[in-house]
Amino acid sequence: MPGPDHYSFIRYLEAKKSIDDRALNQAVWQRMAEPLREIQETRSVTILEVGCGIGTMIERMIERGLLTKAVYTAIDFDPEYVAEAKARLPRYANRQGFETMKEAGGALVLKRPGREILLDLVASDLFDVAGLDRHDRLYDLIVAHAFLDLVDLDSALHRILSFIHPGGLLYFSLNYDGATIFEPQIHPALDRQIEELYHQTMDLRQTGSGPSRMSGTGRRLLVSLRQAGLPILSAGSSDWVIYPRPTGYSPDEAYFLHFIIDTIRGALTGKPDLDQNSLGRWITERHRQVEEGVLVYIAHQVDVLAEVPEKWNATDR
Ligand SMILES: C[S@@+](CC[C@H](N)C(=O)[O-])C[C@H]1O[C@@H](n2cnc3c(N)ncnc32)[C@H](O)[C@@H]1O
Repeated sequence: MPGPDHYSFIRYLEAKKSIDDRALNQAVWQRMAEPLREIQETRSVTILEVGCGIGTMIERMIERGLLTKAVYTAIDFDPEYVAEAKARLPRYANRQGFETMKEAGGALVLKRPGREILLDLVASDLFDVAGLDRHDRLYDLIVAHAFLDLVDLDSALHRILSFIHPGGLLYFSLNYDGATIFEPQIHPALDRQIEELYHQTMDLRQTGSGPSRMSGTGRRLLVSLRQAGLPILSAGSSDWVIYPRPTGYSPDEAYFLHFIIDTIRGALTGKPDLDQNSLGRWITERHRQVEEGVLVYIAHQVDVLAEVPEKWNATDR
């Protein structure tokens, strides 16, 4: 089968960075950046990122000049990704001209004239009560990037809201929203069936509150936040759109596309309602389209920025 011999999630997250850079909704990003800059004129801003992977959002925020005085806590429940972030971020910061120091507790301090960032990278499950609560800190901003469509939305919001400062911001980016498109078509009916079954595998994951409906996380967020009394300050689409340019795909784009196709293979293998020979041919053909530089891939996603009222009471800690 065409494509890489084996797949690594860490390599996928690395490849995803430049694709996400392009996809992120700029209006939502700017609306989030303004108050952050204002806070840092007088004090350190406190940020919590949940499901941080290998830390590429931290790199992005540094690159885009968002962090000048910041205390940034980032959690992921997979210790391997946190270890990778811990190895990667000092190298990255050095390249950006920061001096880096390790504090006794393991946090990393990044310093450059006019900038001081304290990074605490923690292997912890958002839902593990013994994990984050020990920090006993409320945050000005909570970030969840490419995360909320993997967990039970209601429980995650409930948990996240227990860590937010009254008046704080919630920045939830790259929330999957119900459309995966591959072109050129192979067989319209099979293409459609594969997309539908792929959504089903997301939606039928059982969570604490029943079937998850994760394939519609973007639109659900827009409703859930408002219903929870959290005004939405900005929202917009952040679709992944990957297409062959005259020079083909970048190495990151090619890896990313092969990885997505392999993820669909993994999700649909063994599904009794899908002819497995047809699936096998479809997967091989999609990989071949990447190698030949003809595949177009679009995934619809939504970014949201919401504000927590000043009178918010973080009672559920
Ligand atoms: C799709 S990845 C995105 C990673 C990163 N935000 C990025 O975009 O590069 C989702 C991440 O969430 C983490 N994750 C999933 N459930 C979690 C939980 N309950 N608590 C903490 N992290 C979790 C996974 O280990 C994974 O690294």
